[in-house]
Amino acid sequence: MKIIMLGAPGAGKGTQAKMIAAKYGVPHISTGDIFRANIKNGTELGAKAKEYMDKGLLVPDELVVDLVIDRFKEPDCQNGYVLDGFPRTIPQAEALDKALSAIGESIDYAINVEVPDENIVRRMSGRRACVGCGATYHIVYNPTKVEGKCDTCGADLILRDDDKPETVLNRLKVYHEQTQPLINYYEKKGVMKEVDGTVDMNDVFAAITKILGE
Ligand code: AP5
Ligand code: MG
Repeated sequence: MKIIMLGAPGAGKGTQAKMIAAKYGVPHISTGDIFRANIKNGTELGAKAKEYMDKGLLVPDELVVDLVIDRFKEPDCQNGYVLDGFPRTIPQAEALDKALSAIGESIDYAINVEVPDENIVRRMSGRRACVGCGATYHIVYNPTKVEGKCDTCGADLILRDDDKPETVLNRLKVYHEQTQPLINYYEKKGVMKEVDGTVDMNDVFAAITKILGE
């Protein structure tokens, strides 16, 4: 089962991708998480990516494509994977198609989590991310048991650098210009599915499992 999560920043791609990964036993591959791990570990890739991420811009395609294509050739991806945050541009989607067709494969589902821009800024300012394991919470919609501490690993929670309102507005602009065209791209391929991302996260997940099968 090879799935792509589409949707605006803060639509809930990561939240749903983690739930899909747990239920269907496939790895969750998030390019944003990969970059944040590289930033945390002080790698050269992390330093390059940070320059773009902090401004709400996309990291250049050439820094992303090989990274993902190498990742999904690893053994844990044999039964599929859920891609979160990739592809994000038409050239990335084309590179993915090319790499998949070279091994006789293709994407099964592209799931668009639809949330209007008005809801996004509110969601982002309340999001908290774990510095330890990358788990994501929301101070209102998905709070932790102990304030400021991750339920899973106990590490501290932070507000992501790119979740400041001014950066979020820029990310939304970039999303509409560069990523939204992918909806049409995957519609043409007949794999596009849409779910309402404004409802409770468990109801969003129920809509997704209806598409993917129990
Ligand atoms: P990335 O980390 O992918 O960020 P994003 O796409 O902007 O998406 P987010 O992670 O912010 O949101 P999400 O949809 O995962 O929402 P979440 O589940 O957390 O990328 C970051 C940056 O890296 C990019 O800007 C770019 O610079 C770079 N990058 C990454 N991939 C790239 C690529 N392929 N090419 C180029 N550059 C790339 O949910 C948000 C909040 O809402 C949470 O607090 C959550 O608890 C809450 N929530 C979730 N669902 C619900 C619900 N149903 N109701 C209420 N609250 C909810
Ligand atoms: Mg995410």
